[in-house]
Amino acid sequence: MTDPLVVPPPGAGPPLTMTAPSGVATPLAVEARGIVKRFPGVLANNDVDFDLRRGEVHALLGENGAGKSTLMNILAGLYRPDAGEIRVEGAAVAFGSPRDAIAAGLGMVHQHFTLVPSQTVTENILLGLDRPRFLLRERRSEAEVAALANRFGMRIDPTARIWQLSVGEQQRVEILKMLYRGARILIMDEPTAVLAPQEADDLFATLRTMTAEGRSVVFISHKLGEVLAIADRVTVMRRGEVTAAGLPTAGATKADLARLMVGRSVLESLDRSDVELGPVVLDVRAVSASNDRELPALRGVSLQVRAGEIVGIAAVAGNGQGELAEVITGLRACSGEILVGGEPVANRSAATALRQGVAHVPADRASVGSAPNLSLTDNLIMKRYREAPVARGWLVDDAAARTLADGLRETYRIAAPTVDTEVRLLSGGNLQRAILAREIETQPGLLVAVQPTRGLDVGAIESVHRLLLEMRSAGAAILLISEELEEILALADRVDVMYEGRIVGSMPVAEAEIGRIGLLMTGGDDDSGAREAGPTAVAQ
Ligand SMILES: Nc1ncnc2c1ncn2[C@@H]1O[C@H](COP(=O)(O)OP(=O)(O)OP(=O)(O)O)[C@@H](O)[C@H]1O
Ligand SMILES: [Mg+2]
Repeated sequence: MTDPLVVPPPGAGPPLTMTAPSGVATPLAVEARGIVKRFPGVLANNDVDFDLRRGEVHALLGENGAGKSTLMNILAGLYRPDAGEIRVEGAAVAFGSPRDAIAAGLGMVHQHFTLVPSQTVTENILLGLDRPRFLLRERRSEAEVAALANRFGMRIDPTARIWQLSVGEQQRVEILKMLYRGARILIMDEPTAVLAPQEADDLFATLRTMTAEGRSVVFISHKLGEVLAIADRVTVMRRGEVTAAGLPTAGATKADLARLMVGRSVLESLDRSDVELGPVVLDVRAVSASNDRELPALRGVSLQVRAGEIVGIAAVAGNGQGELAEVITGLRACSGEILVGGEPVANRSAATALRQGVAHVPADRASVGSAPNLSLTDNLIMKRYREAPVARGWLVDDAAARTLADGLRETYRIAAPTVDTEVRLLSGGNLQRAILAREIETQPGLLVAVQPTRGLDVGAIESVHRLLLEMRSAGAAILLISEELEEILALADRVDVMYEGRIVGSMPVAEAEIGRIGLLMTGGDDDSGAREAGPTAVAQ
């Protein structure tokens, strides 16, 4: 195989062809047989077979903790299997590291990116290639990166620094990193969980360009509609085993896939009873704020959420909804006023917000939402270690903390071997459950939930929706920020549409029309939208 120290040309040269000489069967891109992987207390992969054909997009589906990421981490050289065989393009392989996998043409883009924020796109792509750095070389490398991005239809500035990029752009850098190293097989672990619908479409276009060249893609996702749209075949896993192997997606329905995943038919029917609205809990008055790039993100936003009410914020990613959550939860400075239960919380601290009964399920669950290297117990008690029964004088009562954590693990069905497991070892969906458990259990007056079901499997989404409605019935005020319009329409009482930092429309969900919301979300003002955006329009 290629020496990893020798730099392959960008994209490993000419397009690969799919046609084999007649009479000779094209070898599978990847063929895995009898893969077994145990972790302490978990059989994550139990005799798993997996085939990837050349030029296909193959989706991998399954409940949270089913073993999808584990299987792919094995293929990508990150974990060694306890048993099993892997062939790549016909040749038996045994990877000792991701570097070996890449040398064999197999690259993986993980759920959490591994880019260096202070470095440029090109620097990140070259990182680890052990090339001497000269200015002239850098120019040439930038041109190569630009050409490669162009070839696969990815918009990216090779000289931009990572911290300046949106999540979608960072993902493109991760993909380019793999293509630059000559990956013919690309594994993507829940790539669309962090993307806005438009960005997801762009990604799909890129994936199609890749498969048209004979490259192969493994695509892990919980979004059944997406799987049907992009994948040629789908493999479904359940509790470490394959329950459907390489099923063609043509002719399959979402309901079919859901049944294969959870072993029962999933039909969401939410009991959404009427709730008497209480007093205003959250009062946001003419709030403006900048984003991380010092550009205006919120421009005079006013909104209210009352006790027993769910207000949904519908917006395409990057239109200020993330910053809105941050100013309310004390994580970002702003101008204007924010009252929670009548008390000002703007420009105080996260601790102040917490004392005012504000809970927060952040979009970034790995770095903002949790402490990856701490145990499940520590993460679950993080917001109440100062209270009984966890606090005992100045000390934390370990036994009480563990009992409490054990209870939450049961109630919220967080799959973890023990409450002592570090949360970085949890599957993506189970980490999200842990954060939800912690936040909901503080019995907040106000919950700011950002993408609360991102990364959850269909069954788990159903239970989170139930939990949110129960909180509403109990009189909590909920601000639900979601890019899933269906989720907002299913849960919210009112929907506020945000576009470029402004609320451009607000309506009871009972009167909401998807078409109109979609138009408002993309800045297509109809008359009423323009009227509602009036004051800010004048301010321009
Ligand atoms: N490094 C590890 N150490 C211990 N346990 C692990 C490790 N990695 C995964 N696990 C466990 O193995 C099981 C399978 O996890 P995996 O991450 O493969 O699930 P998944 O199908 O990707 O789920 P999700 O949809 O939530 O991402 C889980 O119970 C998880 O906690
Ligand atoms: Mg996973």
